[in-house]
Order: sequence, then structure tokens, then C-alpha cells
Amino acid sequence: MTVLQNSLKNQQKTAPLTNPRLHVAGPDSSLTQPSQNEYSPMTSNTASVVSARNLCLTFETADGPVNALTGVNLDVAKGDFVSFIGPSGCGKTTFLRVIADLEKATSGTITVNGMTPEEARHQRAYGYVFQAAALYPWRTIEKNIALPLEIMGYSRQEQKARIDRTLELVNLAGFSKKYPWQLSGGMQQRASIARALAFDADLLLMDEPFGALDEIVRDHLNEQLLKLWARTNKTICFVTHSIPEAVYLSTKIVVMSPRPGRVTDIIESPLPRERPLGIRETPEFLEVAHRVREGLRAGHSYEE
Ligand SMILES: Nc1ncnc2c1ncn2[C@@H]1O[C@H](COP(=O)(O)OP(=O)(O)OP(=O)(O)O)[C@@H](O)[C@H]1O
Ligand SMILES: [Mg+2]
Repeated sequence: MTVLQNSLKNQQKTAPLTNPRLHVAGPDSSLTQPSQNEYSPMTSNTASVVSARNLCLTFETADGPVNALTGVNLDVAKGDFVSFIGPSGCGKTTFLRVIADLEKATSGTITVNGMTPEEARHQRAYGYVFQAAALYPWRTIEKNIALPLEIMGYSRQEQKARIDRTLELVNLAGFSKKYPWQLSGGMQQRASIARALAFDADLLLMDEPFGALDEIVRDHLNEQLLKLWARTNKTICFVTHSIPEAVYLSTKIVVMSPRPGRVTDIIESPLPRERPLGIRETPEFLEVAHRVREGLRAGHSYEE
């Protein structure tokens, strides 16, 4: 049992839950205490792939400080699929960027595979799929995927083997010589996923990778991503605005709220890891979706 689970268990003793199977995190009272989520003690769990303790990040701007993240306590275990969901500005991207060492926390601690984010970055501990596909338009798909591999010093032969393998994984074999602008939005996103997969990191950070896609393409990519996750046993941190997407994909759902950016609920999914699309019609699925929606509603202000 992880530190987080232990802490959740203890919390349940003091806070009766309407459905213990689903309500493994704190009750809605946590939503009335915006500055801190209290899911776990302040010790770091080095066995976790990602472990954040009382993490805060404040941006100093011309208009004053912006509290992008306050008091975030979270453990992501190996093989977890963790979704981050919450209104615009609640700190989802900022949290991924802290993991990736693209932003520094103002206070608190975070470890990635037991290391500092900086050490993890040097070890290429993760692949990052950005909010937009972020492919270079002057490079073909294979050259885009090759870029991080070139930087890492892989031989041409190894680069080609990895490019072929990852394009196969995302169903883009045969498109390696195309330029990004010759592909549809969904194909571009899959190419950017292939690029993140190419150096085979155990941790994938995905920031709204399917945000701009229509429902059918999204369904298809969700299914493919789950299969890929099952096949490779990677750990995935995934940002989304879609409740069904979060529930369908995740083993754990982190509900966030803005001003200040904070975690208001952490839901351990009771759904099995194997998930046909039809699971979205089941009562278990709808129950988790309901809890996420309630969490989002409680943390949302409609007055702004
Ligand atoms: N470099 C920066 N400088 C100043 N403020 C920033 C910076 N980056 C983010 N912020 C602010 O931090 C807060 C969190 O931003 P973040 O991008 O993490 O939100 P988000 O949850 O990813 O939102 P969205 O769903 O719109 O992508 C916002 O108020 C944003 O304006
Ligand atoms: Mg974002």
C-alpha cells in the first residue's frame, strides 16, 4: 500500500463517504479548503514515478503573483494512468511542466523516478506530448520523430528502427515521408505521440493530446492509447477537459480547481484495466463520471 493510499484510508475514518468503493479520496469538504489538499503526509515516496509534496508554484507577473499551483500532494505509481481535469487556468499544464523540469516549483518537493526533475530530464525519463502537436513543418514525419533521437546520439540504423516501430504503433506506417501539413489534425497528434514514444521512456506526459479532435477520432485514439498503455506498461500523466475521456482512460483522476490552482479530489477508478468502449455505458463508469462532474462543479466559479 502506498503512502497516499494509507493516508486516504486514514482520512476515510474521519470522513464517512457515500460510496467507499469510489470515494477513496477526501469528501467535498476538501473543496472548501482551497489552499491545501491533505491526502498524504509530507514525506516523499521514492517508489513512486512522480511524488509531489506540498508543491507550490507562483508566477510573478506584471499584474502581481499568480498562484498556478498550491499545496499539491500526489503520488503516481508505476503503470498508473493518471488524468488531470479542471477548468482552464487550474494548473494542469504547469504541473506537467514541473515534472518535466520546464518550470521550477516555488516551494515543496517533487521527485520523478526518485530523482529531481532536473536529473530525470538529463536521464530522458519521460516523453512529452504538448498541448498542440508541435511538429516542425519543414521536417518530414520521420525527421520530426528522429529529432530527439539525433540529439540523444542514436545511430542512423537505430533511429530508423525506432521510427518504424513507433509509427507502426500509432498506425502511421507509410506516412514517414509526409510533412505535418499534409496530415490531418488527428494524424499530426499521433505523429507527436510517436515522437514522444520513440525514445521509449517509461513515463509519458500528455497535455490534451486529443483536445482538438472530433469525438469519433478521439474515441479511436483513446482506444489505441489504452492498448498501447496495456502493451507497454508505461506510466501516463494525461491532461484533458473531457470527463468521459478521463474516466475511460484513467486508473486515477485528479480533479483540479483554479485561483489558486489546486487539487480538489483524487479518484481511484474501480474500473478494470481492460476497457472496451462499451464500458462507458455501465453504472460503474457513470458513477465515476458523476463524481468527477460534482468535483468540477464545486470548484468552478461561474461569476468570472
Ligand atoms: N509563464 C507564465 N507566466 C505567468 N503566468 C503563467 C505562466 N504559465 C501559466 N501561467 C498562469 O498559471 C495558471 C495556470 O496555467 P496553466 O497553463 O497551468 O493552466 P491549465 O490548467 O493548463 O489551463 P488550460 O486548460 O487552459 O490549458 C494560469 O492562471 C496561467 O495564466
Ligand atoms: Mg494547459
